Amino acid sequence: MRWDFKKIADDVEQDAGGIVDAQHLEAFRLKYLGKKGLIPEIYSSLGTLSPQEKPLVGKGVNDLKGRITEILEQKKAVQEAAPSSRKEILDVTIPGVSRETGRAHILSKTINEICSIFERMGFVVQEGPEIESEFNNFTALNIPADHPSRDGFDTFYLDVKNPQEKSNFLLRSHTSPGQIRIMQEHKPPLAVIIPGKVYRPDAVDASHSFMFHQIEGLLVDKDVKFSDLKGLLKHFCEELFGKDIEMRFRPHFFPFTEPSAEVDISWKGGKKKWLEIMGCGMVNPKVFEHCGYPKGKYTGLAFGMGVERMAMLRHGINDIRLFYENDKRFLSQF
Ligand code: PHE
Repeated sequence: MRWDFKKIADDVEQDAGGIVDAQHLEAFRLKYLGKKGLIPEIYSSLGTLSPQEKPLVGKGVNDLKGRITEILEQKKAVQEAAPSSRKEILDVTIPGVSRETGRAHILSKTINEICSIFERMGFVVQEGPEIESEFNNFTALNIPADHPSRDGFDTFYLDVKNPQEKSNFLLRSHTSPGQIRIMQEHKPPLAVIIPGKVYRPDAVDASHSFMFHQIEGLLVDKDVKFSDLKGLLKHFCEELFGKDIEMRFRPHFFPFTEPSAEVDISWKGGKKKWLEIMGCGMVNPKVFEHCGYPKGKYTGLAFGMGVERMAMLRHGINDIRLFYENDKRFLSQF
């Protein structure tokens, strides 16, 4: 016989087993029942067959068509019942999508920690603006007009004239102008701590950034002494870095403090390696004058430190850029 119905029936069952979606189902239908499909082809061959063959093939093709139609109906029913074709699905067994919880950035944590050490000693946290006048950032701090830090290469000047000064506004290059703002508004005794961003046009590398953070401290009263400054900072260093720390004052110069020093720390035992951590000194009387305080009435102490530097020393971080890249692999360690 020209048609091997047993073989065709096997093919049909095998094809049917591979139907998993509507596309497969349509391909299956076309293959057997489509215009150029196998069933019409068998029907159109009937006329060419011998009288003996004709009824056999006729029965064979009818059975085949019946089975194929049956398969098509079954598969269609299964697909229509499948959840993917329903409009709304609610599967209460699917695990929920949980949000990652955030955390404070390591710099924010460091700022908070440093500020709270001073808050425990009675200091009050104050903040000042990042856009400053030349007077607050330099003049009132006794930084002379020809000082190199006033140069456009060392300070970001804005394109905006300050109508009160006939000079342009600038991005503060340190948090020290915060001292001036406090003293212009408040009379001693005062003890403030001023954290914030500062800006300097430095090329970015492992230890420099055009923006970084500082924390300023200022204490003014009637009888503040250099020993107060030393005791205060010693206590601060022990709180932040631990008791097995040594601290030394190294003579330095800042126009706004007199005398001035830089503070170095070193870990007891081990090799004596001194690390510079901040600048400090007794408030220069000229600064008091610029703030309108009466001559000779008050003395004060001031200090300023870099937050990034503190965090790098404490956590062994060797590249300042890591703080700003927002790489979670780095940030999630703290
Ligand atoms: N403003 C100084 C700096 O940026 C730090 C400092 C603050 C030094 C207060 C003395 C007193 O380097």
